[in-house]
Amino acid sequence: MTLSTDMLPDFPMPREAGCPFAPPREMMRLHAEDPVSKVRLWDGSTPWLVTRYEDQRALFGDQRLSVDTTRDGFPYHTEAFRDTTSTTPPSFLNMDDPDHARIRRMVTGPFTVKRIESLRPAIQRMTDDLIDAMLAGPNPVDLVEALALPLPSLVICEMLGVPYEDHDFFQSKSKVSLRRDVTSEEARAAAGALFAYLGEQLDKKLAEPADDLLTDFAVRMRDGDLSRLEATMLGQLLLGAGHETTANMIALGTLAFLEHPDQLAIVRDTDDPKVLASAAEEMLRYLTIVHTGQRRLALEDLEIGGQLVRAGEGVIIAAATGNWQDDVFPDPDRLDVHRDARRHMAFGFGIHQCLGQQLARLELQVVYGTLLRRVPTLRLATGLDKIPFKDDGIVYGVYELPVTW
Ligand code: HEM
Repeated sequence: MTLSTDMLPDFPMPREAGCPFAPPREMMRLHAEDPVSKVRLWDGSTPWLVTRYEDQRALFGDQRLSVDTTRDGFPYHTEAFRDTTSTTPPSFLNMDDPDHARIRRMVTGPFTVKRIESLRPAIQRMTDDLIDAMLAGPNPVDLVEALALPLPSLVICEMLGVPYEDHDFFQSKSKVSLRRDVTSEEARAAAGALFAYLGEQLDKKLAEPADDLLTDFAVRMRDGDLSRLEATMLGQLLLGAGHETTANMIALGTLAFLEHPDQLAIVRDTDDPKVLASAAEEMLRYLTIVHTGQRRLALEDLEIGGQLVRAGEGVIIAAATGNWQDDVFPDPDRLDVHRDARRHMAFGFGIHQCLGQQLARLELQVVYGTLLRRVPTLRLATGLDKIPFKDDGIVYGVYELPVTW
């Protein structure tokens, strides 16, 4: 059925009041009734929204779709996103192969399962230190500030070789790029400040090399394997992606546990790494925090789930509904930490699948397990209806999580 543009549903869609973890009802309706359908974005453009698991999985691996945000017709998240994209160079997240593969190859080494697993003792120590400080400080406390944001920031700073003392600066700038309500000027200024900052850090590494990722990028830049722009954008991408997403998963995931005491009890009472691993995996599926979808542009005519999509049309892959599809994950609205959720697409799939997924998994396993075990009386210090959710963000989460114990 072809609807005129003003009859199309607006995207992103609002969540139902009182249902902070479920995908928006309208998105689930499209998933059931019209799984490849047009939606209307902020600028009046009408990309396709793809909501079924099997179509999404096929598209993530389809090189006829581009992630290049400089192409005409790309379905931008916001006006500010469009304007910064046209004035700042892309990171490899927004490059197609072969450029994407050339740069990604240079950074896969430190993010493999084995290398990330070797960080477990350090991540455990950092988590314990943050919880010690939280327990020694004021009660109630905002868990976002006390734990959810500092932990992934500390870890990515350590890996990159960025001074953690600068966290106020880079956290506030990264936040801007993930909000939907910022002006183009604010977004450009934040991106420019981060870009300048990472450029300075790279120069410092050339002068004083260390055993960290930025030194590696600086050396590659000096040797001509990476341009200065590419090295800087690589640092900027990892710094931003390395802390914001995981921080949202820690805070929102903790809230989901507090609202599901039976599941919380399983995680609190175990030291079985397999249970902790499956709990983290299930939480990633259940929350699918990249809730405004993975954006693509069709480079050729193609068929998606029986629907013809024309070259030049935008495509939004909404993994949140695929991850709540009942023939893939039975009773998808049930948080079940024993479920095998490993096929979820919260990290995307295919060539752009999250580079930092092993790191994020490890951080979530350590944090959920340690926090719930060490603070067994943890509870919300306010009503669920008072929690400020990031409905206006590109990535979902909570702005604050007041907790007490
Ligand atoms: C729970 C936390 C995280 C979630 C939910 C998440 C989610 C995602 C998703 C959905 C994508 C695919 C984007 C697309 O297909 O367009 C992605 C890509 C990426 N993520 Fe993550 N991420 C997380 C943590 C991290 C961390 C900790 C890092 C780095 C240290 C990281 C670095 C990246 C990078 C570099 C890419 C681009 C990969 C490429 O284009 O080849 N992410 N992430």
